Amino acid sequence: MDEAGLVQAAVAARRRAYAPYSRFAVGAALLASDGRVFTGCNVENASYGLTVCAERVALFRAVAEGAREFVAIAVACGESPCSPCGACRQVLREFAPDLTVLLADGEGKRWERTTLSHLLPRSFGPSDLP
Ligand code: THU
Repeated sequence: MDEAGLVQAAVAARRRAYAPYSRFAVGAALLASDGRVFTGCNVENASYGLTVCAERVALFRAVAEGAREFVAIAVACGESPCSPCGACRQVLREFAPDLTVLLADGEGKRWERTTLSHLLPRSFGPSDLP
């Protein structure tokens, strides 16, 4: 799937967001090295702190389906592109430190490309452990 297609997959996933508290819907689409695409949306909870972001939903779905190598993630949210939160950056980094990150608005009209290593420099990862 090309980058524009990945952005559109994130936009579609965003429509399934469960965000009654923040009313801030986010969608993510994660492209695995084998070509599979795993989508996620944010899932909020009445106990607010249990909310899980779209990016982590996508990543955990992927790992649970046997994918561990990833090429790119698209994130779609709001009026203007937003960037994955710090927790999601760290979780993505575990599997894909060199991930391409596509930051899109909620409709996928505008998007920009960056990298996870740019968003999370000098990160901590598996090889830091003894
Ligand atoms: N959210 C995400 O899904 N991804 C991010 O990277 C930032 C924040 C969600 C969590 C919560 O449901 C809502 O956006 C507002 O923070």
